Amino acid sequence: MRIFRIAIAGFGGVGRATANLLLSRRGRYRQVYGADVRLVAVCGSRSGLADAGGLEADRLSALTTGLSGADFVEASGADILIEAGPSDFRTGGPGLAYIRSALSAGHDTIVISKGALVHSGKQLRELAQGSGAMLKLSGAAAAALPTIDLIEHSLKGCEVLEIEGILNATTNYLLDAMTTKGLGFDAALHEAQQGGFAEADPSNDTEGWDTASKLLIIANFGLGADLTMVDLSVEGIQSVTGERIRTWRAEGVVPKLVGSLARVEGTFRGGVGIRTYPLTDPFANVRGKNKAIRITTDVMGETLAIGSGAEPLATAAAALKDLEHILAARITAPIQISERSS
Ligand code: HSE
Repeated sequence: MRIFRIAIAGFGGVGRATANLLLSRRGRYRQVYGADVRLVAVCGSRSGLADAGGLEADRLSALTTGLSGADFVEASGADILIEAGPSDFRTGGPGLAYIRSALSAGHDTIVISKGALVHSGKQLRELAQGSGAMLKLSGAAAAALPTIDLIEHSLKGCEVLEIEGILNATTNYLLDAMTTKGLGFDAALHEAQQGGFAEADPSNDTEGWDTASKLLIIANFGLGADLTMVDLSVEGIQSVTGERIRTWRAEGVVPKLVGSLARVEGTFRGGVGIRTYPLTDPFANVRGKNKAIRITTDVMGETLAIGSGAEPLATAAAALKDLEHILAARITAPIQISERSS
């Protein structure tokens, strides 16, 4: 049975949920892929834990060694990196160094935090291409809501003309709570923070940066675009007042913070801003902390997905969906096609 050694960098809520879910699915990996998947190392910002034989759940409560930093993956002897550190799109965050070193060394890499992908996406794609490593990022591209997978698998071969997405749970929750429960902005934000889905700095959510980050990742990694933040116009919901909400209600429309992309003269233009929808539009009924994406293609028309899933487990599950794609790709022997004799 082939052994796959996994290292997780970034051991907050999502990193821990990923570790525990992975350990609980080892039987499935054996059964479905014939793969012996071992968690061999985890690390936070200052400390880590490694065991080439594999870590068990009861050892994950305390990180005891100094193992952390960019040479973590090599030092741990892992084959695959899962990166789950804090996200910072302005600097790339601590994840950038881990991802760079893993991809350069040819290790398949699953990225959950968005920062490095937004900051250095092009470079990371090139590193992966150069070394032959697989770079997967469902956890960063709206997690439980399928986005890039929809484009790459379900809509394969089609030309994407337009994308519209409610990509941020916090702003959707806020607008919904202000509209349907009559809550003020601060009270609704407090609920989102209690729910654990608002960012540590919620202005990333409310000012539209989290939506913009996910949109960029979808554009650059799903559609082969080469956009940066300066190419997007980004508007948030921070100045939405109760009065504006009442006006929209009176008009019979529902406000949503939406990231959008459109193909214009062979390239993608995009932005983030509030759009309003009539009640007959499925987007108007994306409630609470749900997310949604609508993709318009040349020959398959409109495809719509709506998803939720509780943090941090759903994000962990999105990353482990990527792991299964890697296992399937790495284990499958290439099919030998014999030449047809004429
Ligand atoms: N803060 C994000 C959201 C979750 O509200 O969707 C992490 O991407």
